[in-house]
Amino acid sequence: MTYEWDKSLETGHKMIDNQHKQLIVALNALIEASQGGKGHEEVNNTLEFLTAYTIKHFADEEKLQVQYDYPDYLNHKLYHDEFKVTVRGLTEELLREGPTGEVVNKISSIIGNWLVNHIKGDDFKMAAYVKTQE
Ligand SMILES: [Fe+2]
Repeated sequence: MTYEWDKSLETGHKMIDNQHKQLIVALNALIEASQGGKGHEEVNNTLEFLTAYTIKHFADEEKLQVQYDYPDYLNHKLYHDEFKVTVRGLTEELLREGPTGEVVNKISSIIGNWLVNHIKGDDFKMAAYVKTQE
């Protein structure tokens, strides 16, 4: 199963929305590489890109929050940090087990669900605040 960006994920902040779209593309690329029997190298490359892009995206969001003194910054950063630990654990599992159906489904659902929930909850609140400051 892959994910699709739609209007229900739109925060209204251009940079944040563009990066969220790119994250979904990166997650889908990983899922497709894992399911398509493309070999470990392709899977590892898509995983590396998703991890690196997630870290970049979180850093950009956090920079905005610091810049505009977002009142909930510390909590938001904590959610990001916790998710980075989750992604690291999943990465290790994938590298250890290889792209088995079980691991790929787990990655797809955990990362996908987290992203959707985080965007619709914490990112919506944050983007609404940032837009009043820009
Ligand atoms: Fe966020």
